[in-house]
Amino acid sequence: MHTDTTAEGGAKGGGDFVIQGDICWSTGPRALKTMPDSFLVCKGGKSAGVFDRLPRQYDALPLSRCCGKLVIPGLVDLHTHAPQFVYRGLGMDRELLEWLSSHAFPEEEKYHDLAYACKAYSLFVEHLKRGPNTRIMVFATVHVPATLALMSLLEESGLVSMVGKVNMDRNCPDGLREESAAASLDATEKWLETCAAHKDKYANTRPILTPRFIISCSDELLRGLGALRRELNLPVQSHLCENRAEIAWVRKLCPASDGYGAAYRDFDLFGSALPQEAAPTVMAHCVWSDEKEINLMAERGVFAAHCPQSNANLSSGIAPVRRMLSAGVPAGLGSDIAGGTNSSIFRAMSDAIQVSKLRRTLLNIDEETLSLEEAFYLGTAGGGAFFGKAGMGYCGSFEPGADFDALVINDSALATLSNLSIHDRLEQTVYICDNHRIEAKYVRGRLIK
Ligand code: GUN
Ligand code: FE
Repeated sequence: MHTDTTAEGGAKGGGDFVIQGDICWSTGPRALKTMPDSFLVCKGGKSAGVFDRLPRQYDALPLSRCCGKLVIPGLVDLHTHAPQFVYRGLGMDRELLEWLSSHAFPEEEKYHDLAYACKAYSLFVEHLKRGPNTRIMVFATVHVPATLALMSLLEESGLVSMVGKVNMDRNCPDGLREESAAASLDATEKWLETCAAHKDKYANTRPILTPRFIISCSDELLRGLGALRRELNLPVQSHLCENRAEIAWVRKLCPASDGYGAAYRDFDLFGSALPQEAAPTVMAHCVWSDEKEINLMAERGVFAAHCPQSNANLSSGIAPVRRMLSAGVPAGLGSDIAGGTNSSIFRAMSDAIQVSKLRRTLLNIDEETLSLEEAFYLGTAGGGAFFGKAGMGYCGSFEPGADFDALVINDSALATLSNLSIHDRLEQTVYICDNHRIEAKYVRGRLIK
């Protein structure tokens, strides 16, 4: 056996290998499995399981000894905006619609310029490589060349992602508005054809239909995207019930639909009546989704991307995550850069717990707050399930067969004063979330450098 005491030893080339350490992962929304000083086996880019004693059949594999370090699944960001990375932390005194006009749209107009886009997207991708997320769902802009450039940068990074060329043909500045529904659909189809023609080049980076939200897409565009979704069985990402002024506007734009989620459904952009058979949909926010909408999401297998930091920054509110989980809505966490400021899904986990406590206290309701186990589940296996349903391999778990997305975290400087359990070390790591404690990050068994 070849052993190495560094977190990346033996596993540099992306082949089969073993990591020894204090291993921890979610086995269900409320269940955290912890295995001290155990062995996590990677075979063919997937987990072959976790063992307290290494089975003989794996004896010959390279071994990275990470004794005393935490080994957890990579984190999943179910919702972010790549072109908003460079101005995060600005305009935070505004609410959604005003902030889109003052900050998001003017910045996104600049991505018409490919050189600017490449520079800004490089900063975004370099930043992501150093953080704890291994998979991300990304909004780009309406611009096809810049979106393809972003996809190439993400592919080179080794991270796994789904990237959307954004659709918008109304209620935005002239410089960002696509000329017509037909032009937007045409650009989308051409972009999808380019992605399909270069499938080998984009092994880890897949396209996803991305109507920005109902306000920025005409009925004709939404209908066309729904038809495209059906025809090509494509996954979809968008925004839902984030802000009260936004919701009131959607009600006016879609008077015949029975709510915001139902409007997406009426355009065939809201999951499927047979969710096991169709590519999935993820909706960011769902802050103001009522029981009816939550039940519709559960019925149609629509994922919720809970983005607590963004919802606080833009005064949007606190999403009813407990109700969504109880109703069986599949859910994960999103950074929603630049509504959110911090890209780390560790931060989204602690924010999700915190806002669930504020919600309970402020509304004076008897609603269980989120536990560490639940927040960790949402940020790993919960979001990871979306990639599985989209045919990209599920992650966020070390169950045999899961894609091998893993982090080795050296938390020795944190746990110096007492002999903490793995659970407590994980809790500290989630709340403190220092990127420099990440010693190694693997995606599909490949070390990210
Ligand atoms: N709704 C439509 N576009 C956006 C966006 O860029 N950010 C957020 N937070 N919400 C949106
Ligand atoms: Fe968003």
